[in-house]
Amino acid sequence: VTRCAYVNGRYVPHADAAVHIEDRGYQFADGVYEVIALRRGRLLDEEAHMARLDRSLAELEIAPAMSHAALGLVMRELVRRNRLGDGNLYLQMTRGVAPRDHGFPAGVETSLVLTARRAKPQPQALVEQGVAVVTMPDIRWGRCDIKSIALLPNVLGKQAARAAGAYEAWLVDRDGHVTEGTSSNAWIVTAAGRLVTRKTGNDILAGVTRRSLIALLGEQGLALEERPFTVAEAKAAREALLTSTTSAVLAVTRIDGAKVGGGRPGKLFGALRRIYLDYADGAGASG
Ligand SMILES: Cc1ncc(COP(=O)(O)O)c(C=O)c1O
Repeated sequence: VTRCAYVNGRYVPHADAAVHIEDRGYQFADGVYEVIALRRGRLLDEEAHMARLDRSLAELEIAPAMSHAALGLVMRELVRRNRLGDGNLYLQMTRGVAPRDHGFPAGVETSLVLTARRAKPQPQALVEQGVAVVTMPDIRWGRCDIKSIALLPNVLGKQAARAAGAYEAWLVDRDGHVTEGTSSNAWIVTAAGRLVTRKTGNDILAGVTRRSLIALLGEQGLALEERPFTVAEAKAAREALLTSTTSAVLAVTRIDGAKVGGGRPGKLFGALRRIYLDYADGAGASG
């Protein structure tokens, strides 16, 4: 099948898909996005992604390009046309096309682009050995709760991680606390066996994977502390983890080259990954 994208009302061959040069997404990164996992062709945590999308749009005063119902149909049609099983669906909404001027344009329609792609199976080595992270200053803006397409600090952080042979960069605020990864949320397990992750606020993205995992913890009766932690605390932790739509749950076994939890994925990680994947392959995915 020819890979296909959805651009402002049309399904087009992916190779030919394009937006106008005066789209404000291109000119100003004036837009928001979502990434939704596909599990056997079904959308994982669709409602939570739609709720976060609405919130991002509202915070930036961008009008939704279409209703949830219509968007649900378009997303499913794109999955169908691409014959996708396991994969990821990417959605961008921008403030639209207008002559370049920083202030909001009047009477412009929100641009909508949807693309989807197959996901390669997650390498078993990542799951079995865990991943390395490096830490660096969080140089992002004050509204990281908005899932904005302005991702330059995230791009630079991820590239620095790759250059260091690491999987992810953990971003550190002025007080020395980890905010989150460049494209994932950060967690540790204390010596007492308690899971810790930063609470949501303007300084991190409210991850949908984070949210689902927290709901599952509740069902399992596992304790959670929502508070900041320092790099030193993370290095000394019993376990460390990261969560995201595209990585699910992975163990972090090295921080800046120092082993965490003896350098092996821990027990709680194993349990949480299993619980999460059971959820993702079952109840979490819709239609
Ligand atoms: C900065 C940032 N934090 C956290 C996440 C994890 O969010 P989610 O679980 O919704 O994918 C992402 C996802 O891309 C992200 O970009």
